[in-house]
Amino acid sequence: MPEALVERAREALDNAYVPYSEYTVGAALRTADGEVYVGCNIENANYSNSLHAEEVAVAEAVKNGHTEFDRLVVTSGARDGVTPCGMCRQTLAEFCDEDLPVVCDLGGDDVAEYTLGELLPNTISLDTLEAAAAKRDADE
Ligand code: THU
Ligand code: ZN
Repeated sequence: MPEALVERAREALDNAYVPYSEYTVGAALRTADGEVYVGCNIENANYSNSLHAEEVAVAEAVKNGHTEFDRLVVTSGARDGVTPCGMCRQTLAEFCDEDLPVVCDLGGDDVAEYTLGELLPNTISLDTLEAAAAKRDADE
C-alpha cells in the first residue's frame, strides 16, 4: 500500500483543472507538525497564469500559518514520476531545507525519492540576500 501522503496527492488529482494540457498534477505537502496541505494544477486560457500543484499546496499551507515542512509528494494522472518544475523547486526552497524529501509517484507502491537539494542545488535564498546586505554594510 502506498504511503498516506501519496494517497492524498492522488486524491488531489480529482480537482485538477486542465482543459488545455489534460495533464493532471497533484501535490501533498506535510507540515513539520503533521498537517497535510494538497494542491492541484489549475490552468488558464492565457497559459502563463496556470497554477502548479506544488505552488497551490504551498500557498494553502502558508495561508494557514505553516512555513515549515518535512515531506512533499508529487503525482500526475500519468503516474510518470513527474518532479516539480524549476519554478516550483524555487518556491519550495523558500520554505524548505535542502534535505526535504521530494517523493515522486510512479504508480502502485513505486516512487522515486529525491531531496530538494538534489533537484535544486545552489539556490538563491534569504541567506544570499542577507549575506550581500551584510557585505554592503561592512564595505561602507
Ligand atoms: N505542472 C504542475 O502542476 N507542476 C509542475 O511543477 C510541473 C507542471 C502542471 C502545469 C500544467 O498544468 C501541466 O502540469 C503541464 O505542464
Ligand atoms: Zn511547477
